[in-house]
Amino acid sequence: MIVKDIINKLYKENNANKEELLFVLNNLNNEDKEYLIEKANEIRIDNYGNKVYMRGLIEFTNYCSKNCLYCGIRAENKKAERYRLTEEQILECVDLGDKLGYKTYVLQGGEDFYFTDEKMVSIIKKIKKKYPQNVVTLSIGERSFNSYKKMFEAGAERFLLRHETASKELYNKLHPNSSFKNRIQCLKNLKKIGYQVGAGFMVGIPEQTNENLVEDLLFLKEFKPHMCGIGPFIPHKDTPLKNEKGGTLEKTIIMLALVRLLLPEVLLPATTALGSIDSNGREKGIKAGANVVMPNLSPINVRNKYSLYDGKLSIGDEAAECKICIESRIKKAGFTVDICRGDNVSWLKEHKNI
Ligand code: 5AD
Ligand code: SF4
Repeated sequence: MIVKDIINKLYKENNANKEELLFVLNNLNNEDKEYLIEKANEIRIDNYGNKVYMRGLIEFTNYCSKNCLYCGIRAENKKAERYRLTEEQILECVDLGDKLGYKTYVLQGGEDFYFTDEKMVSIIKKIKKKYPQNVVTLSIGERSFNSYKKMFEAGAERFLLRHETASKELYNKLHPNSSFKNRIQCLKNLKKIGYQVGAGFMVGIPEQTNENLVEDLLFLKEFKPHMCGIGPFIPHKDTPLKNEKGGTLEKTIIMLALVRLLLPEVLLPATTALGSIDSNGREKGIKAGANVVMPNLSPINVRNKYSLYDGKLSIGDEAAECKICIESRIKKAGFTVDICRGDNVSWLKEHKNI
């Protein structure tokens, strides 16, 4: 087998089998890597041109009942300074977002059941009443089919729920008292209800092998999420994984490019974690096929409290109010910023007959 041939196959057919993907991950040299990035970029250009979509991220609660070993806001981290935004504060963030031109708001939080279905429905309805054209995206973890349905009916249209890793064994090691099966079921339920769904995984989590990463790629190819969040694992000082090594920029870029080749129409963010490990991380991600950025719209005084990992960016280019600096960096990298809804193109074809 030759790496370049497999990349060509991925480019032409948007597919490769387990052995081929593993061969790429195990044998990719610098020249192959450049070629992979080039091809991934071409596929993105074919599907989305050189547009990069912007979403405003509102981190509305850092309470979480879960204990993911890697995460700085896990329930057992007693050092995390907890906060919840009020409904009014969330609406203020949305107002600011709309003023700045953001048409999509991602309401992200830990698994915090203070925010009951009723509270979420009320927030979603208020946002949609005021801004009917704008999109509400939820990222609030695992809930029942009926909860997801109520929130969809209230007007939420997209949902981000990373699968985190497609290896059941690794999933179980990282997520105490959680069920891999339930997580995957949640993703399926979301799709069935009609959400545009975001899956995703971390690169470089302890004990993760190239075989595991291939499992992620094959899972994504089969599940076909509309969006996919990929970022490097970054250790957090108050978690059980504090002394572990983090994921690298290089490996994350390779995974982004492979996902773009496997899922040409996926919306792929250049994540905050990528921007946090390298000052040009986001641009490098965009050049390898990423086409979404999610600047932070949360109130400034809570931003450092949403501390998933050490060194998480929340100011400067990561801040929604700094739209001009974000735009100018994206332009400098050769891309244009698009502030519209930014739907997944295959979802649009299916749902709006376009
Ligand atoms: N490093 C990188 N990403 C992390 N996340 C949580 N903790 C970390 C960490 N230490 C990611 C998870 C989660 C998303 C919101 O943030 O993938 O789904
Ligand atoms: Fe909670 Fe999400 Fe952190 Fe897990 S990754 S502890 S579910 S906020």
